[in-house]
This record gives sequence, structure tokens and C-alpha cells, in this order.
Amino acid sequence: MVVLISGSGTNLQAIIDDARAGTLPIEVRAVISNEPNAYGLERARKAHIATRILDHRDFSTRSDYDRALERLIDRFDPGLVVLAGFMRILGQELVEHYAGRLMNIHPSLLPRYKGLHTHERALADGAKHHGATVHFVTAGVDEGPIIVQGAVAVRPDDTPASLQERVHRQEHRIYPLAIRWFAEGRLSVSDGKVMLDGALRPQQGLATS
Ligand code: GRF
Repeated sequence: MVVLISGSGTNLQAIIDDARAGTLPIEVRAVISNEPNAYGLERARKAHIATRILDHRDFSTRSDYDRALERLIDRFDPGLVVLAGFMRILGQELVEHYAGRLMNIHPSLLPRYKGLHTHERALADGAKHHGATVHFVTAGVDEGPIIVQGAVAVRPDDTPASLQERVHRQEHRIYPLAIRWFAEGRLSVSDGKVMLDGALRPQQGLATS
């Protein structure tokens, strides 16, 4: 697989650690970042994984960037492309090119709180539960069929930082899990429906209150 990042790369680290421990049967062929100083690049180098920087500021249009990104990813011939904190919106052509093999993780119980500042928004709403979602990517931002969610209970004394920390722990559990299902050939998506071992995955199961 190829992992796309923009920042710290703690999700990338969870994937690397599980692959190393033998619980995730995958090979990370490359880590690509649009941010030259992303700390995740350092994590990849330490794990002897190929790194590439493709800075969006070097391109005049979104579609030029997407085309270059697609070419770069395809050089590694991945079976799966994983967005792990990649802070760029991808165009429809690229998304369709990787249909059914492009995953994202989002720090909320989708369909709630698409976009940014999810922890602040959950707290401001008085949400009882919050969490993270792994989903296949489709053209809409933070949309796309849900593979797995991890929920946490919101505590009365939570700050955005404390909530984020617990959500991150869920992320580091559910992203490797979803990738393992995919690598084992147990996961599929068609017509917007995700199947695991032949059973339909719930699409809004955890976002109840
Ligand atoms: C995570 O919260 C993820 O859900 C979101 O971006 C953040 C990336 O964190 N898409 P990290 O770089 O993996 O630490």
C-alpha cells in the first residue's frame, strides 16, 4: 500500500507498528506527503520506507496536482491507498481511479461533523459520544461508505485536547483493523455498500446520540 500524509503521522505509525509486529499483513511501499516538513516522513524514514514529497504549492491547478499525485502513487503499484491525515481534497478523477481501494480516516462518527474542528464541534453540541470513522473515499469530502467506527464517551470535563487524545487511540485501533480486513480480502464495496465476510456493514451504527 501507499500512505498519504500531511502531518504528524501517528496513524501511519500505528500501521507501521502493526505491520512490524506481524498483525497486519501488508507492505507500506511508500509514504507521500504534500508538506515537506511533515513529521510522518521522519517516521517512514526510520522504518526504512520510501518517502516522496509532492508539494501542492508547486502546481497551479488542483487537477495538475492530482494528475502528478496519481502518477507518483502508481509508480509503487499499490493495491490500497490510505489517506492518514492527508489535508488535501482530491478530485473526482483521482478518486475514481482508486475506487474501492482508497481509504480515509476522519475524527468523528460520520455522518456527523464532516470537515475540520470536529472535537470542538462535538463538545459545543454537548454530544454524548464522539469518535472516528474509516471509510472508502468517494468524490464528496468525508463521505463514502463506512468500514468501521470507534466511539468514545464524552466526559463532562473534556477539553478538545483530551477528547482528541481518546479519539486518536480509537483511530490507531480501527485503521489497522480496516486495512487488515482489506488485505485479507474480506472487505469489498459496491454500489456504496460495504461488505465484510459477506455481511453488510452498518452505515451509521455508532452515531446514535
Ligand atoms: C487524524 O485525526 C485523522 O483522523 C485526520 O487527521 C489526523 C491525522 O493525525 N484525518 P496523524 O497525522 O495520523 O497523527
